[in-house]
Amino acid sequence: MSETIPKACVMGHPVAQSRSPLLHGHWLKTLGIAGAYELVDVSEADFPSFLRNLRPNGFVGGNITVPHKEAAFRAVDRRDEAASAIGAVNTVWYEDASLVGGNTDAYGFASHLDASIPRWHETARRAVVLGAGGAARAIVHALLSRGLQVAIVNRTLARAEALAAHVSGGPSAARASAHAPGALDALLASADLLVNATSLGMAGKDALDLDVSRLAPGAIVYDIVYVPLETALLRAARARGHRAVDGLGMLLHQAVPAFARWFGVTPAVTPALRAVIEADIRARTGAA
Ligand code: ATR
Repeated sequence: MSETIPKACVMGHPVAQSRSPLLHGHWLKTLGIAGAYELVDVSEADFPSFLRNLRPNGFVGGNITVPHKEAAFRAVDRRDEAASAIGAVNTVWYEDASLVGGNTDAYGFASHLDASIPRWHETARRAVVLGAGGAARAIVHALLSRGLQVAIVNRTLARAEALAAHVSGGPSAARASAHAPGALDALLASADLLVNATSLGMAGKDALDLDVSRLAPGAIVYDIVYVPLETALLRAARARGHRAVDGLGMLLHQAVPAFARWFGVTPAVTPALRAVIEADIRARTGAA
């Protein structure tokens, strides 16, 4: 019977650390759906043909993670609006015979912010985004789509400039700017939202060197890092009375539209789901 149940997967290299099987597995189980979600470690050389043969190999779709998101962008038949704007595909599904590529990272970022701080966007005008990699790209897209002005601050200024230029094709041209780290303190003073979209502060990586006392009092602080579950940035921000939004919620929310595409049911991000993933993070990092 296993041939007939819908099956999705996450494709990456390496992929063993992915929490997507736990996440989608929790939804399959709690929603009582007969389906499966597998880990597939596929090399860069093999990825394009693996992706093109997902359906013949028994999959209804899947997630794409490092380092294949750009290759997936090139290999699909069609892309959704977010994937086109971001230049990377993290989710694929079929529409008739076409393999469609989407990007749910921007959705996951914004949806978790909406759930954590309802109506945040009614007063937020200016955002500062730290970083200019793939995660920053999705976040800048999400914030511009919601009408904010975005200052991109990155160690390598040229990457921030390239990202600002990339988003300058559309109507948001005047709303993204690029800055070197030296400009950060001045930008923080007038920011309504600060987002760490770098890997700084992650367990095993360098610390994020940022003085939260420079932030305007009402600013929201969002850190995409979720290992550790409470980063030094979020702890310091909370201690000063800022509203803090964590990265784990972004991971959970970005999975919602993907699951709905493959299995036909829109799942919910619940405290029980969060508890499952938090327990896994604690178990794997040895944290209390
Ligand atoms: P991802 O696709 O996950 O966003 P990435 O493309 O490697 O990953 O980007 C990581 C981001 O963290 C980049 O903005 C990077 O800055 P550079 O563009 O200058 O490399 C930033 N980053 C990583 N380590 C850093 C460090 N030690 N100091 C400052 N920025 C750092």
